Amino acid sequence: MTAAPPARLLAALNERFQREFGGERPRVFFAPGRINLVGAHLDYNGGDVLPMAVDRGIYAAVRLRGDGRLRLRSLDQELAVDVDAAQVGRRTRTEWGWAGYPLGVWHGFQQRTGLGVGLDVVFAGDVPMASGLSSSAALEVATAVALDALHGTRLDRQQLALLAHRAETGFVGVRCGIMDQFASALGRAGQVLLLRCAGPRWEHVPFDPAACEVLVMDTRKPRRLAKSGFNERVAQCATAHELLRAHVRDLPHLASYTPEELEQSREAMDEVLFHRARHVVTEMARTALAVAALRQHDYATLGAQLDASHRSTATDFDVSCDELDVITDAAREHDAVFGARLTGAGFGGCAIALVQSGASAQVSAGVGQRFRERFGVTPAFDLLRIGNGPGEVG
Ligand code: GLA
Repeated sequence: MTAAPPARLLAALNERFQREFGGERPRVFFAPGRINLVGAHLDYNGGDVLPMAVDRGIYAAVRLRGDGRLRLRSLDQELAVDVDAAQVGRRTRTEWGWAGYPLGVWHGFQQRTGLGVGLDVVFAGDVPMASGLSSSAALEVATAVALDALHGTRLDRQQLALLAHRAETGFVGVRCGIMDQFASALGRAGQVLLLRCAGPRWEHVPFDPAACEVLVMDTRKPRRLAKSGFNERVAQCATAHELLRAHVRDLPHLASYTPEELEQSREAMDEVLFHRARHVVTEMARTALAVAALRQHDYATLGAQLDASHRSTATDFDVSCDELDVITDAAREHDAVFGARLTGAGFGGCAIALVQSGASAQVSAGVGQRFRERFGVTPAFDLLRIGNGPGEVG
């Protein structure tokens, strides 16, 4: 069992389930969203990332049905989707919208286990949608955990994460790395995940909530370009890697090259590709420094890596925007802030600040005022705690 869900949300979920589908009470599962402390855009380059599962995520009220009918609802989305199992092929369809994520997990689970009965499900989230906190990975992992429990298949957490990841890449068609689904599936209270995506291999590293808290600052800027911009970065990194393999040496991942090796390829690459690759190789070093700092409880050095990461994602990787730059700058003006950076893919959405415990309300007030003066918009602030990982909640 994971932590108790917010009672109101659970009541609304059960009420909607009864109204839509009636009958026996469903079982309820949870999977967390995530923030990534450092290691931006490294997962799909075979690098090391440092995410933490948060205490918010997606809840799924689920009941299996024997007739192969799949009925999906969400408290947060208007679109309701009803399909027959036989209609679900290898790819999502536009008309399925958000339901493509859980349907992709259902399809992968069915392929893997041969267990393809239908289901009735209602989802609800307390993590802001499409803001960079990985609501889609939480949706996928919640579905995977639910199917596994209801069918008694006892897949391990890595298998559930991979099922969720394949739904997003193969079925929905976003070329993301493995970080979000692993962070959600492997979340553990009081620990962040050091995920070496090249393996993948991972370990948990303690994070002290008494010393430092994570303030999420939502710019409310829609991430309109996120999908196309993200896929473009993935393609640019792949090209830079090809050039490095041809001109310097053959290593399996872009993140494996040193800054010196990258320098040797300068002539072979145009400026844009060089900058993208430079972000990747320098971010690897920042992640290593951040992990060492975390192990020493040195939150000032950890924060400095977040600041440097933000600068590199803004300049070399070009995935920031005015709103994210201003909100992170405003946070850094406070003495109680160790560091700040955009989180998720960028292009809008949320940033995070590492703040001395107890100082978040004061930081939020100051940052909110600066941001309002500049953009006429009030950002949203949220103090997130490290979550428990996925599981059944009721
Ligand atoms: C998105 C993707 C992740 C990762 C981050 C950037 O959240 O889904 O796989 O690439 O961007 O670090």
